[in-house]
Amino acid sequence: MLENGQPLASSQEKDVIVINRRSFLGALLGIGTAAMGALLAVPVLRYVLYPLYAKASGTEWSDVGAVSDFAAALVPVRKTVTFAQRDGWREVVSTQSVYVHRSESGDLRVLSAICPHLGCSVSWQQGQSEFVCPCHGGRFQANGTHVSGPPPRGMDALPTRIADGKLQVRFEYFRSNVPNKEKLS
Ligand code: FES
Repeated sequence: MLENGQPLASSQEKDVIVINRRSFLGALLGIGTAAMGALLAVPVLRYVLYPLYAKASGTEWSDVGAVSDFAAALVPVRKTVTFAQRDGWREVVSTQSVYVHRSESGDLRVLSAICPHLGCSVSWQQGQSEFVCPCHGGRFQANGTHVSGPPPRGMDALPTRIADGKLQVRFEYFRSNVPNKEKLS
């Protein structure tokens, strides 16, 4: 028999055509499902792997005190600053001691109290007019310059700015026991 001028397909041929359509639709569905799964997996994977590729972010600015508080400071003034640091998913809030040094010209400098030798806490010794580290006897001038002892460099000065009459600092950590200041991320 003829259909539209063509011979009619046999029932076996019809079965093959139906099966081919089904396999094509099945493959299309499979590809669609796989693509959708991949699309959904991207944000999940990004979230799960975030701590592996995210670097610890730097800290924000912390208030040290009103600029006027240091106008008459003749010796370094000890202050405690609080700051948050993000490491992967975690936000860690820390406190650290700093010293504010006022130069003769009135410029304010904020020094980390972390000893650049092996990380002990340096303190200002009024009687000796020097910073002294209790661990191995490192000594520094009031402006942080290294005087004597094992520390390979002076005390680390931190980035500062003045906002609304307040002295602010961005606390940073530096590699210990190396001659040049190397910021840790
Ligand atoms: S840790 Fe300060 S001198 Fe060694």
